[in-house]
This record gives sequence, structure tokens and C-alpha cells, in this order.
Amino acid sequence: MRCKNVHVIYFSPTHTSARIAHAIVEGMGVTVYHETDLTRHTPETEEHIDDEFTIFAVPVYGGRVPTVALERMHYFKGNHTPAVAVVLYGNRDFDDALLELTDTLKAQGFIPIAAGAFIGEHSFSRPGFPVAEGRPDESDLSAAMHFGSKLIEKFNHVSSFEELPALQIPGNHPYKTPGKAMPIAPTWNGELCTYCGTCTDICPVSAINIQEDKIQCDANRCLKCCACVKECPAGALTLDTPFTAILAKNCATRKEPTIII
Ligand SMILES: Cc1cc2nc3c(=O)[nH]c(=O)nc-3n(C[C@H](O)[C@H](O)[C@H](O)COP(=O)(O)O)c2cc1C
Repeated sequence: MRCKNVHVIYFSPTHTSARIAHAIVEGMGVTVYHETDLTRHTPETEEHIDDEFTIFAVPVYGGRVPTVALERMHYFKGNHTPAVAVVLYGNRDFDDALLELTDTLKAQGFIPIAAGAFIGEHSFSRPGFPVAEGRPDESDLSAAMHFGSKLIEKFNHVSSFEELPALQIPGNHPYKTPGKAMPIAPTWNGELCTYCGTCTDICPVSAINIQEDKIQCDANRCLKCCACVKECPAGALTLDTPFTAILAKNCATRKEPTIII
């Protein structure tokens, strides 16, 4: 079979999932492709994907696929459409997230033909408490490109995707129980803030508002994704979690991508 059209679908508040998805496509040698960024966008209607090889990339939150990413991905339905499941995790563990993503794709009519778990800088990583800082790095991107070239090889050698043996994805059923939601949100420093609006524009769940000259973050809505913290040009937002120091201590040993093809 030949790989003609490619669709990349991702949810990626701090861009690591998007970067790996782009590197995979680059490794496939594809320059023109369809792209859907679900980070700040919920589709309005269902989209049926018949003839596009589809790459889904999402981060791991609490060992699972973030609920908001699953909700937005549910708008995409396949018709025995070959797909790739990709998760990005912050050098702790991806637990059941890759299994959950693969199962979800199957339930939506896709045929997962490959899967990968890559490492991205942990959302909570910050100066003094680095967790997978700067990843994906050159080595990760090159692994993603290599994965892309292997996908094309697989594509070209398979005559029917339905006859492929099922992928052996690490993880457990039932999936890991999500931890209790942390009722915290980034803290705002009014002396540094320039009211540029970056934080309100980029929040994936519209949890940030400017009210009476103050930036207010709604802790109940906030995903703790840290997009606002990492992208505030004035450094006016910070998120302190009880996990940051623990992760920096316990997850210092470098992990490498897991590829299943
Ligand atoms: C709420 C939350 C939970 C997370 N849980 C995990 C986890 O269970 N394991 C892990 O290794 N990384 C975890 N991370 C880190 C992200 O998976 C990692 O930073 C990922 O690269 C972010 O993807 P993005 O850049 O596409 O947003 C978590 C991040 C957040 C915000």
C-alpha cells in the first residue's frame, strides 16, 4: 500500500507532542499534510477520516491521556483508517496512556499500526528543579524521524492493515486511577505582568481571565499544563506543585523513547 495523505492531530500545551509529531512526519518524507491542533480548539462537528494516514499525539497526565484531549479527539472517526498513537511523557512514566490512546483509536474506527512513547520536558520542570529539561532533544527528534521512516517501510510492505497482528502495547486494564485533582493554579506577579494577553490567549481551557487589572487563574478549570508559565514573556506566572521537587529528584535518570512497530 502507498501512503498518500497524512493527517497529524495533536493536543500539546507545551509543544513537545507537536514537535515529535512533526519530526515523525519529516522522517516519513512528507512535506504537505493536514494538521489539526486540538490544544485550544474543540471541533464543532465530527470528522470522518477515510483516506488519511493519521498520527495522534498527546501528553501523559497522571499516567493517562488528558481527559480534555480525549474529549476533543472523539470528534475524529476512522473507517479502518491506519493510525499511529504517540504519547509524550516527562521522564517519569507513561503508565497506561499509550494503551488508552491505542484503545481509543480502535474504538473510533482506526487501525493502530504503530505506537510510540517519547520524552518531553516535564510541564512542572523549572529552573532549580529540572525534569527532562530541553527534551525532546536532537537524539529524541532523530528517533522520531527514524520512526517515521519505519512507518513508511511498513506502509509499503503491507497489503491489508486489517490482517496485521495486534500491537503489544505496555499498560494495564483497568487503566490507572487518576490522582485527586490539585486545587492549584499558577500564581500571578502583578509587578512583572505587562498585560500582553499571552496567557489568556494560550490557555487550552480558557481558565485565565483579566479582571480589574488582575490576572485570575481558575484553579478548578486549570489543567496545570504550564503553557502560560512557560510562555509568559515577563515571567509573571509560576506554578508550584508539591511534586516538582520530588520529580526533579526521582526522575533524573534519562529515559529513552519506546517504539512499537
Ligand atoms: C497534570 C500533569 C500530569 C502529568 N503527568 C505525567 C506523568 O504521569 N508521567 C510523566 O512522565 N509526565 C507527566 N506529565 C508531564 C507531561 O507528560 C510532559 O511534560 C509532556 O511532554 C507535555 O506534553 P506537551 O508539551 O505536548 O504539552 C504531566 C504533566 C501535567 C501537566
